[in-house]
Parts: sequence; C-alpha cells; structure tokens
Amino acid sequence: MSIDLNQKIYVAGHRGMVGSAIVRNLQHKGFTNILTRTHAQFDLTNQAQVQAFFEQEKPDQVYLAAARVGGIYANNTFPADFIYSNLMIQNNVIHQAFLGGVKKLLFLGSSCIYPKLAPQPMSEDALLTGKLEPTNEPYAISKIAGIKMCESYNRQYGQSHGIDYRSVMPTNLYGPGDNYHPENSHVIPALIRRFHEAKVGNAPEVVIWGTGAPRREFLYVDDMAAASVFVMQLDKATYDSQTSPMQSHINVGYGSDVTISELAKALAKATGYQGNISFDPSKPDGSPRKWMDSGRLSKLGWQASVDLDTGLALAYADFQKSLR
Ligand SMILES: NC(=O)c1ccc[n+]([C@@H]2O[C@H](COP(=O)([O-])OP(=O)(O)OC[C@H]3O[C@@H](n4cnc5c(N)ncnc54)[C@H](OP(=O)(O)O)[C@@H]3O)[C@@H](O)[C@H]2O)c1
Repeated sequence: MSIDLNQKIYVAGHRGMVGSAIVRNLQHKGFTNILTRTHAQFDLTNQAQVQAFFEQEKPDQVYLAAARVGGIYANNTFPADFIYSNLMIQNNVIHQAFLGGVKKLLFLGSSCIYPKLAPQPMSEDALLTGKLEPTNEPYAISKIAGIKMCESYNRQYGQSHGIDYRSVMPTNLYGPGDNYHPENSHVIPALIRRFHEAKVGNAPEVVIWGTGAPRREFLYVDDMAAASVFVMQLDKATYDSQTSPMQSHINVGYGSDVTISELAKALAKATGYQGNISFDPSKPDGSPRKWMDSGRLSKLGWQASVDLDTGLALAYADFQKSLR
C-alpha cells in the first residue's frame, strides 16, 4: 500500500512526551505536512477554538496525544480537573474532527482503563469487567469514554462517512520529554533524578519505597510512537481482524516486565551510580504485577525494539540535557 506523505496530519499535544515522539516518527518516515499548535496558541478544552481550527485547517488525520496527565498525587488532588479536561479535550477533538471530515484518528489511552484486579497480563477484553483503581478513576473513566466515543462514531458513521477512529492503550512509558519533577513524576523519571542526585552528591545509599518485588512493564516512548503510527497505517481489514466494533482498542506494551529491584539496578547502571540500593518494606508496594497482554498488536505484526538498558541510557541523556 502506498502512503501519501503529503497528507495533513494534526498531532494534538506535540510538545508532550508522546506527541513529540509521534512527530519525530512521522518526520523520520518522510511526512511533510504535520500540523501542530501549542497549548498557549489554543486550548483544546475550548469548543469554539477547536471548531474554528478544524474548519480552517481540515487535516486528513489526527493523533490525539493531548491530555491532562499526572501521577497519583496529582490525580488524587485534582480529580475534577482530570475528568473535566480530558473529557473536554477528547470530546472537542473527536467531534470536531468528525464534523471537519477527518476519516482517521488515533486516540491515546492508558492501561489504567483496566480494572484494578484484572487478570495478568491484562488483555483488551478486561475492559469494563470490574472496579477501577480509585486513585485515578476519574482519569480512567475519561479514557474509557474516549475509546467508546471513537467506537460510537465508527458504528454510526463508519459506513456512511468512512469514519475509522482507532485507540491504543500504552503501558508505562519513559524517555525523552518525560517529567522529572521530584514529587510528581512516574517511577522511571523519579528514580533517574534520585540516582543522578545520589551520584553527584556521593550518597552511599539510595532507598526505594516497598520491597522491590512488584513487577512493572516499561516501554520506550519512541517505540510507543512507532506503534501508534503502525496502528494508524494498518488497512481496515487488518485492524478489524484483531478488534471488534465494541472492543476496538489495542494494547501497546513491551512484552515483558521487570521487578522494581531489577529496574533499580538497571537505573544505577544507566546513571553510573555505584552506591548501595536498599528497599523500605514499611512503605506500600502497590499491585504485585501490572503487565499488558500485547498479543493482538504482535499478531498485527508489531514488536518493541528498544530494550530497557538502551532506553534508560537514552532517558538519562535526556534528563542531563534538561538540567542544562
Ligand atoms: N506518560 C506515560 O507513561 C503514559 C502512559 C500511558 C498513556 N499515556 C497517554 O499518552 C498521552 C500523552 O501523554 P504524555 O505522557 O505525552 O503527556 P504530556 O507529556 O503531559 O503531554 C500532554 C500534552 O497535552 C497538552 N495539553 C494538555 N491539556 C491541553 C489543552 N487543554 N489544550 C492543548 N493542549 C493541552 C500539554 O500541553 P501543556 O504541557 O502546555 O499543558 C502537553 O503538551 C495521554 O493521553 C496519556 O494518557 C501516557
């Protein structure tokens, strides 16, 4: 299948970690007509602005990587902001894309859409089978609504208007453009900062919360971008072979997970920290395991290519750049 490299592709959230990686991937593939707007230029929660943008620009495709994103603290402290902003962003972008004649759109969700006690690895059909993790339930509900919104437009307008809106659910991501905030960041960027500061300050020990035994899966963000573009470019019959009208989302994982203890050792290596690593079992561990079943994506023909050691070295280089 030949791909038109001049299609007008709007990447919403292009300054974010995932959106910027999608732009890199599209540019690398030779796409020449990538449309972006900063949050300051226009606010995706504002319906009139989004409507005017789609009427004026008429993009051919949309990658929806703009969202209000945060860790446990932010989700717990600002639940109203998380549910409101995300519902507004996705409702505006998906509906105005439809009205503006966009036939192909990719919605980015998250593994938190799955029930807290979903069987591991979590497969796509675990969606809506149980209670969500309460700390980020409002965020997860908005992501579930986004998937259902895409599905509903496909079901109502797929035949008549050629609408083909898809969704991908990434596991934990890391890499260039991550948020390295000391309190409000995910485990990899938070530990990169801690190991770096321990190395620079010659600290004899880094203490990590919990037992180190929980298992987590991590995917390098450029792999996520590659998977997003891959899924978007699949022909409809191939995409439909692994999805159904009311279960249209595809998981994107690395394929295997590591313990927090293994992650800590890999991070010490990546950052050059040579002191001790210890664990504080009096602190909570969280779920014993969170691992995506990426079998459908692999049947479609995609596999991650950046291993954890390589990805962490690249992520650490990005962190060092952010200090300059
Ligand atoms: N990071 C992960 O580990 C992870 C894992 C699974 C899924 N995801 C999903 O991937 C997507 C992107 O996440 P990310 O990590 O790239 O997040 P990010 O780095 O925070 O990027 C989000 C982008 O959206 C923009 N944005 C937010 N609100 C906006 C608004 N009202 N109007 C216009 N732009 C707005 C932000 O701009 P400002 O910064 O200027 O507000 C930012 O550029 C999200 O849907 C997220 O759920 C991420």
